[in-house]
Amino acid sequence: MTETSRKVPYTTNNAGVPVESDEHSLTVGPDGAMLLQDHYVIEKMAQFNRERVPERVVHAKGAGAYGFFEVTEDVSQYTKASLFQPGQRTDMLARFSTVAGEQGSPDTWRDPRGFALKFYTELGNYDMVGNNTPIFFIRDATKFSDFIHSQKRHPATGLRNNEMQWDFWTLSPESAHMVTWLMGDRGIPKSYRYMNGYSSHTYMWLNAGGEKFWVKYHFKTDQGVDFLTQAEADELAGTDADVHRRDLHRAIESGDAPSWSLKVQIMPFDDAPDYRFNPFDLTKVWPHGDYPLIDVGRMTLNRNPEDYFVHIEQAAFEPSNLVPGIGPSPDKMLLGRLFSYPDTHRYRIGPNYAQLPPNRPHSAVNSYAKDGPMRYVPSNASMPYAPNSFGGPAADVAHYGKTAGWYSEGEMVHAAYTLHAEDDDWGQAGTQVREVLDDAARERLVSNVAGHLKQGVTRPILDRAFEYWRNIDQDIGDRIAKKVNGGL
Ligand code: NDP
Ligand code: HEM
Repeated sequence: MTETSRKVPYTTNNAGVPVESDEHSLTVGPDGAMLLQDHYVIEKMAQFNRERVPERVVHAKGAGAYGFFEVTEDVSQYTKASLFQPGQRTDMLARFSTVAGEQGSPDTWRDPRGFALKFYTELGNYDMVGNNTPIFFIRDATKFSDFIHSQKRHPATGLRNNEMQWDFWTLSPESAHMVTWLMGDRGIPKSYRYMNGYSSHTYMWLNAGGEKFWVKYHFKTDQGVDFLTQAEADELAGTDADVHRRDLHRAIESGDAPSWSLKVQIMPFDDAPDYRFNPFDLTKVWPHGDYPLIDVGRMTLNRNPEDYFVHIEQAAFEPSNLVPGIGPSPDKMLLGRLFSYPDTHRYRIGPNYAQLPPNRPHSAVNSYAKDGPMRYVPSNASMPYAPNSFGGPAADVAHYGKTAGWYSEGEMVHAAYTLHAEDDDWGQAGTQVREVLDDAARERLVSNVAGHLKQGVTRPILDRAFEYWRNIDQDIGDRIAKKVNGGL
């Protein structure tokens, strides 16, 4: 073939040097020994051995896409964050995931789904790292690793183990609301496109006048909420383990861009101390009747990543990426997460993960961070320290006005949250069972729980599980016990 008739580019090594062969290593004669000076073969094999980064310790299996967020209403009275100002359109990345399974695990296992968003705002990245549930299993960050250990594989057998799960849940009654959610229809969405996303946590919003509000986010799917039954999910786990990743990719590829409408609940700052539930307890919702949903805008996902590893596997979401106008709340889970994510990214991807394409802000980075493996964007600070006399960046408090904080004092203790008037572990779970689910959904809940308990859960943990459900709702607990015992 002549150079001019070639239709494809020539192969190079990683340094851009043309290689001599895609198919044959350099040998002494056609049958002879391989030669060490074939540096291209060595590069290929060495690079291959290093292709994997560790998978995420949780949320390892997922799918993601790029898109944009448009503000359709005016919420500037509550926040000055640039992405929420009237008429604003902000580029973004989303990644959805299951939690406990590994990279290759089926998309249809019963599990909460991650709902992680990264908004490339004018003042840096804002990450909203939520789930498809408005609540969570625990309310203190110190229990997170224990909780996850109980959901992952048994140390001796290497197998998933329902008994560990029920042991942890029944000894941690704060899990009741979330377990009710998980065992119900929404525990297996039809696909990522058919589920809502929630901040779950309460955050703080600050307006331009320095006024503070508490806020919860609800991203409601415009595709409609839909789910898979346990039987449908079990079958898909065997026939198409990647069904949800495929569904998202195909929809976007065919021009059927999925979207979600953002609504928020706003609580006046001073309502928090006397609200009937602790508004920062992650196991509780704010009933819509108390704080109705307010429309904000819409997010649309319309661009698949051109390289899954680069854009989705190396995406690094971090709840600590908060921008002026948005702050944390005294939720002890959220405060723990502020540390955890950047720490795991430094380990999993490397200390310069923020320079990679999905993580790189679309606004200026004027930081004094320096060096480290794989750093490739030169610093634009003229001197590597602050303060300096050479025109280096200087902090500008004008971006913030007021710090997104709250007044706090007290003796240092290891203690549960102070209880508010209606705080308990079972109440909101019971409301869900009795007032939100219909008869058919309650029957599926009973069947899902009984089916799960029958897979390896033994006494006394089994009896504790019946008691747990009777605390949520006597009738549902009795029906679960009957179904399990009848089947023993
Ligand atoms: P509402 O009647 O106003 O809201 C009930 C909400 O339940 C619906 O808006 C819907 O949330 C959600 N829902 C519907 N079907 C299911 C299901 N199968 N599994 C889980 N959730 C479902 O009542 P309240 O706000 O007073 O809340 C009552 C209970 O509803 C709570 O205890 C909680 O368990 C649940 N819930 C409450 C939410 C909240 O933020 N207030 C959010 C979601 C659930 P959505 O519209 O978000 O899809
Ligand atoms: C992923 C820690 C609670 C949502 C992760 C990861 C860690 C982690 C270490 C892996 C991140 C990575 O490798 O990229 C924790 C800790 C928690 C906690 C310590 C509690 C103290 C929660 C809660 C939510 C949540 C309450 C939802 C409200 C997510 C999501 C991901 C994730 C969506 C996947 C992000 C992605 O798509 O890359 N978490 N988590 N986590 N977590 Fe948490």
